[in-house]
Amino acid sequence: MSFDSLAFRQAMGRFTTGVTVVTTRNPKGGNIGVTVNSFASVSLDPPLVLFCLDKAALSFEAFGRSDQFAVNFLCAEQHALSVRFSTTTADKWEGVAYDIWPTDLPVLRDCLVNLGCQKEAVHEGGDHVIIVGRVDALRLDGEKRPLVYYQSGYREIGASL
Ligand SMILES: Cc1cc2nc3c(=O)[nH]c(=O)nc-3n(C[C@H](O)[C@H](O)[C@H](O)COP(=O)(O)O)c2cc1C
Repeated sequence: MSFDSLAFRQAMGRFTTGVTVVTTRNPKGGNIGVTVNSFASVSLDPPLVLFCLDKAALSFEAFGRSDQFAVNFLCAEQHALSVRFSTTTADKWEGVAYDIWPTDLPVLRDCLVNLGCQKEAVHEGGDHVIIVGRVDALRLDGEKRPLVYYQSGYREIGASL
């Protein structure tokens, strides 16, 4: 069965995900952040996670050079942060509330979860790379509602079945 790239994009858009902002620092100490919904957990023991990064992203080089990154799970109230970190602007971080963790990672405040990760492996994945990290720090807020992404739109989680 053949299909075109539009059909492939539409199909992928029907896979519902949460939304994260993956952050790191560049060699000059500047903060880097990208909206990412290709996040997945990989392994419980050891605790491994992955995300896929577009080779064309402006922050591609910074993630390649850094040996660590943070994954910030956004809550429903933070959809503006998803828009901000998915838009190439001069300063994505202006006015954004964040902490610097002891490992020197910038981590967004008020998220559902923050994960601190050491880079474990990088795999080829077509026009993306697959970056695997080992989680070595974690902050979670059980009271928040997740931001949901489906068919190019932001949603809140619905009723339980
Ligand atoms: C909801 C959503 C999810 C996204 N997921 C990814 C992703 O998993 N990987 C990726 O490379 N880009 C993803 N993007 C696109 C990047 O956020 C976007 O290209 C961003 O501008 C890259 O920033 P940079 O060019 O400053 O590095 C996503 C965008 C949105 C809105």
